[in-house]
Amino acid sequence: MNKKYYEAYEERYKQVHQSQNKAWAGDKPSPTIEKLLKKYGANSKSSILEIGCGEGQNAVWLLKKNYNLEASDVSAEAIRWCKQQARQVGVDENRFFVMDILNNHLDKKFDFIFSVAVLHMLVDDKDRSGFFNFVKKHLNHNGKAIIVVMGDGKMTRKTDTTKAFELADRPFENSIIQVATTSCRMVTWEHFLKEFRNAGLKVLEHFLDKTIAGFDVSMVAVVEKRERKRFVD
Ligand SMILES: C[S@@+](CC[C@H](N)C(=O)[O-])C[C@H]1O[C@@H](n2cnc3c(N)ncnc32)[C@H](O)[C@@H]1O
Repeated sequence: MNKKYYEAYEERYKQVHQSQNKAWAGDKPSPTIEKLLKKYGANSKSSILEIGCGEGQNAVWLLKKNYNLEASDVSAEAIRWCKQQARQVGVDENRFFVMDILNNHLDKKFDFIFSVAVLHMLVDDKDRSGFFNFVKKHLNHNGKAIIVVMGDGKMTRKTDTTKAFELADRPFENSIIQVATTSCRMVTWEHFLKEFRNAGLKVLEHFLDKTIAGFDVSMVAVVEKRERKRFVD
């Protein structure tokens, strides 16, 4: 079966884990995620889902802090790595599972959903709207989603998805290694905010952030479901 371009991270994780026995993205959680969870009232009872958890640097940290979190990724290698990290620090490895959010859904909803550096991997419009639909479908009434993507809100970029699995040189630690190219689409704020609106999601706040590990600057948006107004005569 043909792999989808957004599955190329699976190759990158395997290449780095096998040759370096280290995480591609390091192990530093992003302080912004916990700050926003707290700001919007998350506590140890709130149900939280991470989409595209990668090697688990945020999820493992939040599980250690007793948040009620589940974390998923389309990459089986990423989830294998997360489970291993979870065992090492004594948190529940069963909180991690493999799922392609563009082709699956869960039979439950969450108080919070967050996703770091996943949406910008989705290049095709159809896949991007699939991401927004997944978020909307899995948020509880009053639930909040925190979406972080690469970009400064001005720059635009769209990679060729047919090249996502090709090898490319990338800096890693103090050297250059060859890994799968993967994919990337950067959009302006205007475009990003319109995508949320079109998906029926209301943006509560949005800002640029320099604390997300691995990126010079990222765009962050906190959203909730836009409720349909009901008119009563
Ligand atoms: C750039 S990495 C970011 C990983 C992690 N959140 C981090 O901050 O290091 C993007 C992640 O999104 C995952 N991903 C891409 N498309 C996905 C999909 N359709 N469903 C679930 N995960 C997906 C990839 O496998 C990869 O782990």
